[in-house]
Amino acid sequence: MTQKTNRRNWLKSSGLAAAGMFLAPTIVEAKKTEKTWYSEPRIWERNFSFPPDLSKLRARLLANENPYGPSARTKVAIMEAVAGGNRYGHQDAARLKSMIAEKEGVTPEHILLGPGSTDILEKTAIVSFIDGGNVVSADPAYMSLIKTALAFKAEWKSVPLTSDYAHDLDGMMAAMDDKTKLVYVCNPNNPTGSITNAEKLRAFCSKAADQSLVFVDEAYLEFLDNPASSSMVDLVRAGKNLMVTRTFSKIHGMAGIRVGYTVALPETLKKITSMVRSNMGLNVTALKGAMASLEDTAFQENSRKWTKETREYVFEAISNLGYDPIPSYTSFMLFPLKMEGQPYLDQMFDHGIGVRVFEIEDKPWCRVSMGTMKEMEMFVDSFKKVVG
Ligand SMILES: Cc1ncc(COP(=O)(O)O)c(C=O)c1O
Repeated sequence: MTQKTNRRNWLKSSGLAAAGMFLAPTIVEAKKTEKTWYSEPRIWERNFSFPPDLSKLRARLLANENPYGPSARTKVAIMEAVAGGNRYGHQDAARLKSMIAEKEGVTPEHILLGPGSTDILEKTAIVSFIDGGNVVSADPAYMSLIKTALAFKAEWKSVPLTSDYAHDLDGMMAAMDDKTKLVYVCNPNNPTGSITNAEKLRAFCSKAADQSLVFVDEAYLEFLDNPASSSMVDLVRAGKNLMVTRTFSKIHGMAGIRVGYTVALPETLKKITSMVRSNMGLNVTALKGAMASLEDTAFQENSRKWTKETREYVFEAISNLGYDPIPSYTSFMLFPLKMEGQPYLDQMFDHGIGVRVFEIEDKPWCRVSMGTMKEMEMFVDSFKKVVG
């Protein structure tokens, strides 16, 4: 069964159904006119507690890690690189930048590397918000950059996702003002796994980038069937002030090895590197591993294919049990629970299944990462037992 979008799920799942569907538009409208900016992270980001020892898990489905990686070629490259570990990795960094630049159709000066894209998200936040200002993003969104911005006393102007879990681009445009230093877009979005139409997003980014830096986090882009057509990197090529960020943690299965990159205008990157160093956080093993993985397109294709298969399996299994998962384009899936979050999490862990629970609009939601098919069968089996 293919994943179907139920446009009413978001409202329904947000607890609005209880108040009667006829009330929903009014409530949504009210929400939109309420103050939607914050000086601290929102409650949904609060983690429910899980046991400190994760080594006993039969299926670790809690951090959107790729169960198939790193690829065999990558592992060999990393092992061979260890012998060169007495040297700084500047030349390897330059080589990796050139490879990425060629792939993205830009010059190496358009590329900044980091030990994971988190490094780039946080450095960008530090440099952008050192003098305050505000950040505009969807809500819920991936919080890394926003949290750091808030630590620098920025304001977060959060704009709820639309009823089909896309970015509310008109709402985000309306939220921008003369204090907006950065617009953060995550496409596909974490934690919802949903996408925003690429053409509409391109028009939005193009316009927004005339007013402020636009940061497009494409950590999960490569899980789409045709990633290139949904990337915003062409706007950078066209000279727009965007940072388009990717990671080797997801499709490449290298989360623990730590490499990420951004594609942006050289002058935007110079602003960052004038304040913080870039290459010094990188290591030669990771750099050589990333180079090997970039060339291993067969591995990336398999990651995409196998993740799609597990996603379809989980979507169908969970739907058949009467749950409403959000159609996902990523390596994870989000759905509202019908029991309290903490006992659910505890019992799943008792079964050896590690997942996440988030509280969104005062309701518990489970985010489950895609493991191997065997792991997802264990997840479904345990889920049935836990929810009864
Ligand atoms: C949307 C998004 N961006 C960035 C990251 C950071 O990934 P990393 O630092 O491993 O590149 C993650 C990790 O889960 C993510 O979900």
